[in-house]
Amino acid sequence: MSDRTLQDFVALVRRRTGIVIADDKTYLVEARLAPFAQTGGFAGVGPMLAAVMSGRDPGLLDLCVEAMTTNETLFFRDTTPFTTLAEQLVRHAAHPRRERFRIWSAACSTGQEPYSIAMVVDEVRERHPELAVEIVASDLSNRCILKAQAGVFSQFEVQRGVSMKRLVRYFEGGGGRWTINEGLKADIVWKTLNLADPFAFLGTFDAIFCRNVLFYFEPDRRRDILERLSRQMAADGRLFLGASETVLGLSDRFEGPSGVSGLRRTADPAPVRSA
Ligand SMILES: C[S@@+](CC[C@H](N)C(=O)[O-])C[C@H]1O[C@@H](n2cnc3c(N)ncnc32)[C@H](O)[C@@H]1O
Repeated sequence: MSDRTLQDFVALVRRRTGIVIADDKTYLVEARLAPFAQTGGFAGVGPMLAAVMSGRDPGLLDLCVEAMTTNETLFFRDTTPFTTLAEQLVRHAAHPRRERFRIWSAACSTGQEPYSIAMVVDEVRERHPELAVEIVASDLSNRCILKAQAGVFSQFEVQRGVSMKRLVRYFEGGGGRWTINEGLKADIVWKTLNLADPFAFLGTFDAIFCRNVLFYFEPDRRRDILERLSRQMAADGRLFLGASETVLGLSDRFEGPSGVSGLRRTADPAPVRSA
């Protein structure tokens, strides 16, 4: 593949999604796009990219961009965010307000994060049946959203984070194929959404999970997304980041011990609550 084609594609991915493919990671382009080139009957990744970059197949270009995302995820990743969320939900249930408690899983990958959230909600609801919650789950990758919506997981996937008790309670099946209960699925609204695009229309949230995605972006993009996330948070809301992610040096809109235990909003940029 010519250096020029590669650089143009890397620049396009950065522009569209914020994802930075470092110079020493460009081999990923070849590795991840080779199957598309083969299926599409191209002589290789280079000729395919040259064709799609010239605007010949926008659908295939979208797939190529999407293929550059890293979708690694697991149920109840890092535990702490889910414990803090359970505490928030119990507090909310004890002081019921008119509004529903709203949760956004903003880079939900193949669904393990929003389904973990839905399990926590269900467990708190056992003691507080009146608890009204809305979960919005979004990701840039439409392929991930479709898999998440289907709610079907392999033995390997459920083994990564789902306890036996939760497996019995929230999944059906066996033989290496586990399907999430319809009840849990019904609690989640799915969207394909690029965090680089406006998201104010989603309204205000009491908990935002924006985990293990910001570190793929360059600092200016992280700053911009954090700034906009702060405007989507309820006054006593929490922002959950990944274990190796921080707002330090990027935003003064949040405070708290760490992103994993949930950051609070510091300033008051007048959020707009959704209808
Ligand atoms: C490593 S996964 C993290 C999944 C989950 N939040 C977790 O912590 O386990 C990162 C996800 O971010 C998504 N992503 C990457 N760039 C994005 C963007 N610009 N807007 C929305 N999602 C994006 C990818 O598609 C991928 O599913």
